[in-house]
Amino acid sequence: MNGIIEADTEKYLYSLLPRRDATTREMESYAKKHAVPIIGPACGRLLYQLARLVLARRVFEMGSAIGYSTLWLARAVGARGTVYYTDSDTENARRARSYLRRAGLLGRVRFLVGDALGQLRATRGKFDLIFNDVSKTQYPEVFRLAVPRLRVGGLFITDNVLWSGRVARPAAAGDAETRAIQKFNRLIYSSPKLLTTILPLRDGFAVCERIA
Ligand SMILES: C[S@@+](CC[C@H](N)C(=O)[O-])C[C@H]1O[C@@H](n2cnc3c(N)ncnc32)[C@H](O)[C@@H]1O
Repeated sequence: MNGIIEADTEKYLYSLLPRRDATTREMESYAKKHAVPIIGPACGRLLYQLARLVLARRVFEMGSAIGYSTLWLARAVGARGTVYYTDSDTENARRARSYLRRAGLLGRVRFLVGDALGQLRATRGKFDLIFNDVSKTQYPEVFRLAVPRLRVGGLFITDNVLWSGRVARPAAAGDAETRAIQKFNRLIYSSPKLLTTILPLRDGFAVCERIA
């Protein structure tokens, strides 16, 4: 809960979600217990739906942690699709690999450990969907890097763009994260290459279609 949607309404929205399979639920429990900031089931389902809508087959994920958002994406791309997992933490990657193996999705995921921006630079070709959930101060740089790597009609999706509402107020001196997200939000709305909508679900989910 991020205080963006009124609490009862948010609780209601989550109560409507169908029960997830055992592996997904186990990841949700692990994330809750160990304070891993995953996108959760409402945004996971949205990511899955959006990936299906654009028939995404080649997906690059930036900041994958224990592989929860990866799992939703890997389901969406189908048996012949590929999701590039990236995280700088080797223990996260080990855990993600174990969950994805158990979910029967390992064959759809390529694991890249290290800086996600560097990994994107080093990976050739265009993508149908790029999902951004790295350190918030890197968001403006991710914008510059990711947009040219999308096919026209592809989606650039970013988590935490409302940052618990902090983006709506002037950022305090030294609050580099809020400042970077505010800059990022201006970039995605002013880019002639993108058609952008921020959905106020959970912590704010930016959905940008590459249109030019
Ligand atoms: C918010 S969590 C990702 C959660 C994941 N997307 C999910 O919803 O299941 C952010 C993760 O990104 C990783 N990270 C942050 N900046 C990164 C970077 N520049 N390169 C690679 N990983 C990064 C952190 O290690 C952390 O695990």
